Amino acid sequence: MPVTATDGSGWLAWTRATAEGRSREEGSATRESHHDGHDGPVPTSNPVPRRPGLTGPHPGPAGPPVRPRNDPAQYDDLADQWWRPRGSFEMLHWIAEARARLVPAADRPGSLLLDLACGGGVLAPHVQRLGHRHVGLDLSATALPLAREHGIVPVRGDVLRLPFGDEVADVVVAGEVLEHVADPARLVSEAARVLKPGGTLVLDTIADTWWGRFSSVTVAERLPAGPPRRLHDPALFVDRSALVEAAGRAGVVLHLTGLRPSALDYLAWLTGRRLAVRMLATRSTAGLFQAHGRKTTVEGRPS
Ligand SMILES: C[S@@+](CC[C@H](N)C(=O)[O-])C[C@H]1O[C@@H](n2cnc3c(N)ncnc32)[C@H](O)[C@@H]1O
Repeated sequence: MPVTATDGSGWLAWTRATAEGRSREEGSATRESHHDGHDGPVPTSNPVPRRPGLTGPHPGPAGPPVRPRNDPAQYDDLADQWWRPRGSFEMLHWIAEARARLVPAADRPGSLLLDLACGGGVLAPHVQRLGHRHVGLDLSATALPLAREHGIVPVRGDVLRLPFGDEVADVVVAGEVLEHVADPARLVSEAARVLKPGGTLVLDTIADTWWGRFSSVTVAERLPAGPPRRLHDPALFVDRSALVEAAGRAGVVLHLTGLRPSALDYLAWLTGRRLAVRMLATRSTAGLFQAHGRKTTVEGRPS
């Protein structure tokens, strides 16, 4: 088993034992990527905040670099984790299943689903049956080949400057990325620009509240299946009112729902009795939440 950035952490070492011998039906955990097709670095709009005494990557105790919070290079360090059963991105698979529930089926041949910040393509198996052409955009040159292996047409780029024309997409999703960019309103405005009138926008992210910070950083970063340490910068968590206003200005009335893992499923997952955990809707949107809405038509109404 290759050594990864998280292999040294106690919980992963523990969960790794139960992961041995399992395989996720959609992909091999240790596959190698050989084809990207997109060359050169893409300028990132992501801020990489610096803390006193931490001015750049330096070796962690087990060798891999310890990076500043929200450093996009973390996704390259963790590239072999996207599809690893019980790996560092496990919870993204559960959230993707919940995101897919908000994606409508294609209503025309050639319907286009744009997956902004698609990462390693974790959404793909959950939307495959819906009949869209699935195009995924991401900054990460190591994640995109994995997305391609899962049937996504990969495009390397920045979610804040989408390389797509106006009103081309039937559905736009942006999962677990608003909390990684400096200007979430710009992301929403770009997403709405490329969305056709009547098209559906689906988002999920973390609220800028004490509960968002506590549940997604203080707690989740220490739990099996939670995000890798330092992946999130709580300073970038999302102001829900500002998000709703930005979407409204762009012609999308957003409906928000909270999301949390089923505690029973999580216990069963911990003890190896479940392969995945269902994400449940909650009334409170103060932590992890989903948002969705349809872009108004020319007449100003959802079609
Ligand atoms: C937490 S992962 C979510 C991936 C995927 N949406 C999912 O839910 O599995 C965040 C992703 O956002 C990408 N990302 C971060 N900032 C970005 C930007 N400015 N433009 C494009 N992708 C970005 C990262 O490379 C990473 O793949």
